[in-house]
Amino acid sequence: MKQAWWRGGVIYQIYPRSFADSNGDGVGDLPGIIARLPYVASLGVDAIWISPFFKSPMKDFGYDVADFRQVDPLFGTLADFDALVARAHALGLKVIIDQVLSHTSDEHAWFAESRQSRASARADWYVWADPQPDGTAPNNWLSVFGGPAWQWDTRRCQYYLHNFLASQPDLNFHCPEVQDAVLADIRFWLERGVDGFRFDACNFHFHDRQLRNNPPAQNRDTKTVSADNPYGYQSHRFDKSQPENLAFLRRVRALLDEYGAMSVGEVGDDHSLQLMAAYTADDDKLNMAYSFNLLTAEFSAGYIRRQVEELEAAIVDGGGWGCWTVGNHDSIRVLTRWGRNTGNPRFAKTMLAMLLSLRGAACLYQGEELGLPEAELSFDELQDPYGIAMWPEFKGRDGCRTPMPWLHDAPHAGFTTEAPWLPVPDAHAVRAVDVQDGDATSTLAFFRNFMPWRRDCAGLVGGDIAFLDAAEPVLAFTRSDAAGSVVCVFNLADAPATFTLPFDATPLAGHGLDGASLSGRTLTLAGFGGWFGVVAKEG
Ligand code: NOJ
Repeated sequence: MKQAWWRGGVIYQIYPRSFADSNGDGVGDLPGIIARLPYVASLGVDAIWISPFFKSPMKDFGYDVADFRQVDPLFGTLADFDALVARAHALGLKVIIDQVLSHTSDEHAWFAESRQSRASARADWYVWADPQPDGTAPNNWLSVFGGPAWQWDTRRCQYYLHNFLASQPDLNFHCPEVQDAVLADIRFWLERGVDGFRFDACNFHFHDRQLRNNPPAQNRDTKTVSADNPYGYQSHRFDKSQPENLAFLRRVRALLDEYGAMSVGEVGDDHSLQLMAAYTADDDKLNMAYSFNLLTAEFSAGYIRRQVEELEAAIVDGGGWGCWTVGNHDSIRVLTRWGRNTGNPRFAKTMLAMLLSLRGAACLYQGEELGLPEAELSFDELQDPYGIAMWPEFKGRDGCRTPMPWLHDAPHAGFTTEAPWLPVPDAHAVRAVDVQDGDATSTLAFFRNFMPWRRDCAGLVGGDIAFLDAAEPVLAFTRSDAAGSVVCVFNLADAPATFTLPFDATPLAGHGLDGASLSGRTLTLAGFGGWFGVVAKEG
């Protein structure tokens, strides 16, 4: 049977505010994306995931949805969206949209009604709770963005729960009508022809009905949040990742199956890998899930190996399927975070090759194919409330959200004709698409070549993964299927390294990585060099 497209698929994430601005208001939009879809198709990816473009006051830049069925005028119209789906499909690209089910904006009509009074028709659509006798918040739950997760409301004289901004009240999934309502909104987009969904914060749907206090963390979670965030001090036993989510995800899956659509869920917890496996088990919930485990400050060959092996061990009977990502609109760009802005041009290529060789699908964030570093912004330039609250130790998410550089010598690198909502750094303009288009040695050229090579390489897309023992900084593993076994070796440091293969292998050509040579079974790797070979069949 032909493998489903998303297994081993490559999903290109578009952050619509920062992709391409068609109308000169400084913010990217849907017509801008449509105009650039041929570029995306030229990358050889399978699908685009578009971050939220729904009606929103934009306090969290679209992850605070005021109406799930409308396109925000900043981004265009429903007709623009329909045109985008048609154009993407004509170019052979699937379209995945972002559904933020866990919470809404406080400007959503549901919340306006819910906060009216304790007797309103939607009174229990959000998580409301009485204060403690001394007036303080119902329990010790914290917001990911800093401070308590409870906001006082003077109409109901109660607190409401918000896991993110106070303007993002948390929907109460214990209420069956809430589940029905969000499923109806999902159907709305299925009817418009989308191929799948990325479910935001999808382990946040349910909370403990008894509102029990979270215990302190035994091991601080520094993956979902940075080390300076008090959120990581708690074990989030009661405010998220509740068992009731499994039944809800089955309802989601039943709906998606009616349309043949797929799903990928975002899971952030101190045991994300186990949750990823649980949410994708038995082929009746999510198709795939991804975590923050490769979006961390921590970086080494051993660390990456542990994440993949832990997920593989948690997957029962080969049922679940992971999706790996080393960058998105929430994390410091990988060139800076893991590469420390190395001047070595192999780093960006080797990261792409490594990501695309792991077992699972991959999400690639716009600009990774150009090897963009994190943008350095001053406090005055910040837009992200998370960064403004946590400055200066944590600078927020604006540094990875600056606009795509298209043309090196156009104003704002061709992103917009007027002032962009975030500046385009000079370090990005010199890496613009038009510069790399004409350079056979560029990261972009490497990526365009690597994608079809990977697709045709037996084992790399759908095969099993097995790690080989290698000393730091070498990461080595095989990908195997019935057609054979490929060995992948990456030097994850900027100094030469050697690695001895435990079997005979012959070098594979055509992938575009360099900086490696094989003599007998010994591989000599330059800094950030990478190598692929075919494992010799025994006997
Ligand atoms: C995860 C999203 O990726 C992030 O951008 C957003 O702020 C939170 N969820 C809240 O929706």
